[in-house]
Amino acid sequence: MINLTRGVPAPESYALDDFAACFTKAIEEDGAKAMSYVASPGYAPLVELIAQQENVDKDQILIGNGSLELFEFITKVEAQPGDAVLVESPSYDRANLLVKRAGLKPIGIPLETDGPNIEKLEAAAKEHKPKFFYTIPDFQNPMGVTCSLEKRKKIAELASKYGFMVLEDSPYRSLRYMGKDEPMLASMVEPHLSARMTSYSKTLAPGLRLGVLIAPKEMSLRVRKWAGNTYIGPVSPTQALTYQFIKGGYFEPNLQKIKELYAPRLKKALEILDRELPNAVYPRPEGGFFIGVTLPEGNSMETLIPKAKEAGVNITDGRGFFLNPVDGERFFRIPFCGMKPEELEEAMGKLLPLFVR
Ligand SMILES: Cc1ncc(COP(=O)(O)O)c(C=O)c1O
Repeated sequence: MINLTRGVPAPESYALDDFAACFTKAIEEDGAKAMSYVASPGYAPLVELIAQQENVDKDQILIGNGSLELFEFITKVEAQPGDAVLVESPSYDRANLLVKRAGLKPIGIPLETDGPNIEKLEAAAKEHKPKFFYTIPDFQNPMGVTCSLEKRKKIAELASKYGFMVLEDSPYRSLRYMGKDEPMLASMVEPHLSARMTSYSKTLAPGLRLGVLIAPKEMSLRVRKWAGNTYIGPVSPTQALTYQFIKGGYFEPNLQKIKELYAPRLKKALEILDRELPNAVYPRPEGGFFIGVTLPEGNSMETLIPKAKEAGVNITDGRGFFLNPVDGERFFRIPFCGMKPEELEEAMGKLLPLFVR
């Protein structure tokens, strides 16, 4: 069975030998602390290092067992059931799920190739008075698109005008294979309206379960309190390992290696799409893990999923990325990073005969 489902890093991307060395060092240097309860906001040396790197106060930081967990805390602490929140449409399926599970009222903002539709964003902000806008501006999951500078500026303006928080989730930001970075939304939005999350899942390993929230101090302290009462503290040995990994100078060379591994995979995925699916609609991502493909009329997830399974490929249900599931009936997400170029050809070779092209 080939899994073309979740955005899991390639097994060969994990720096296992360096992880082993860093874990040994973590235990030798600070084992008793790393193995104890480490209360929120997290393992102090790592929190301090991140604060330094990001140039923020360490009280703004909260570590979670993955950034998804932090997002769940935010849906509980920063909004109440019935409150409106804005999400991109499509958006990360698990984020959609958590928003709904918290009883919030998600309003979908159509996502275009250069970011969210600004007119719709303003109309929704005006009408629904949302608590926050959850956005993935860099190499969005599931589309792969990156928000333009112009739209980032507009989002910042609208946040000030309507008083909503911009919650910027950017686990893929550092995985750029070509082109140049846009400034983070956090550098444009008024500080009291800006929070951001990142994760070591895609740049180191998801099994570390290590996500980071950087928020205004008051918000961070509120979420920290909730977090502490829920998880006591985030898993600490993996934080100690990560601290040693960064401090030891392994992070940047490893990131470079991962980018070199993934760049040809993106190229291959686009090459297959260009060659085989001329009637499909898809963006041309410059990084990240995904390409979101709208298949031609006549395709449907309802029938594709079981047929793909029969052919030996598991695909993600495109409907989960949309608040209104029918909007994702023809939506097929390619998580290109987890597969070698030849494996991608093989998987697509099995799927292509099933598509209406
Ligand atoms: C946009 C986005 N946010 C958060 C996550 C979850 O990250 P973590 O493993 O840190 O919980 C993912 C994982 O796919 C993601 O795509």
